[in-house]
Amino acid sequence: MWQALDCSNISFLLKLINRIRLQRKMNPVFVVFQSLIGVELMRVDTELISKANQIRQANVDDEVHLRGLIEISNYCRCNCLYCGLRKDNQRIRRYRMAPTEILSAARLAAEFGYGTVVLQAGEDPNFEPEVIAGLIEQIKKLGLAVTLSLGEWERQTYLLWKKAGADRYLMRHETANPELYSILKPGKRLSNRIKNLEILRKLDYQIGAGFMIGLPGGLDVEHKADLALLTHLQPDMAGVGPFIPNPDTPLGHFKAPSLENTLSILAQVRLALPSAHLPATTALESLYPQGYEWGLMAGANVIMPNLTPLHYQHQYQLYPGKAQTRNAAAYHQRIMELLNKLGRPVGKGPGHSILWERRQKDEKSK
Ligand code: 5AD
Ligand code: SF4
Repeated sequence: MWQALDCSNISFLLKLINRIRLQRKMNPVFVVFQSLIGVELMRVDTELISKANQIRQANVDDEVHLRGLIEISNYCRCNCLYCGLRKDNQRIRRYRMAPTEILSAARLAAEFGYGTVVLQAGEDPNFEPEVIAGLIEQIKKLGLAVTLSLGEWERQTYLLWKKAGADRYLMRHETANPELYSILKPGKRLSNRIKNLEILRKLDYQIGAGFMIGLPGGLDVEHKADLALLTHLQPDMAGVGPFIPNPDTPLGHFKAPSLENTLSILAQVRLALPSAHLPATTALESLYPQGYEWGLMAGANVIMPNLTPLHYQHQYQLYPGKAQTRNAAAYHQRIMELLNKLGRPVGKGPGHSILWERRQKDEKSK
């Protein structure tokens, strides 16, 4: 049921909205929502969101798993039309973190009590797979689980990293529309992406698929095909966040999806994948200062605090305003305060996917 709550003093409200909007140059609808939590003028499907929240609680409980994100390189051989790391973008300074820097960031994750480190990069052909394997081994020695988000590689490379101890691999399918996929990712095919995810699963990785909400050219605003593909893949985790126009890309003049649409799709992903890990994405937080909070209320159970040294974070611009880049300690502090406020405990241990744990049990009992 779509619900639009009313407010008695509209003229006061409009003045307030205008004042805040002028100060912060924000979208007025969002300002209303932000300034009036509890008295929402926005058309949010409250029933759907509270259902997603219930399903999340019943299946994966109240814990929020924190995965420390380290953006190890912003080189990319691909040219995705939506992404600031695309190879034709000359406006960012490229970097590749040194192994010692990456290990220091991973040590911070252990200090903060996170169970997992996520190594993320563009598809960087000059980051030697063996060096990455060595890093995985070192990070595992810190008692952390390792998630990789490094793009498409040969099966041999995935195997090398798996043998080194990698636990999970994030590879969003981005859009379930094959034509749109090949337009937005020149030279790439959706079928190949899905094949990669299947290879990763066979190698016993916990896999993460997912998509961007409101991509330009995506006529299916309800994302039915994306939800159906997720249901088919049954990923251990699903990264689903809003598309954010990046002025340094060919899609810079398109619009981000509305907050209502974004939260509604996120909630539907939770209904489709009751036991999967679902992050409140950095993209959601980048669009709306309370994005993490709303994501956690709409079915999410994971946050990925950024541990990348600040001077590199500034260069890792997939899209603008990437959660208002903060240093690791400030990021950590803010997330702990948020979880405290919401009464959501921090997940203990590696936070493996329940689905993967079930698969392990089934294998053993065979
Ligand atoms: N807006 C939102 N998400 C983006 N990503 C890349 N560019 C954008 C953008 N402009 C997402 C993609 C990719 C992930 C690492 O970041 O979904 O898989
Ligand atoms: Fe590269 Fe990934 Fe960005 Fe595409 S989305 S340009 S593969 S970093």
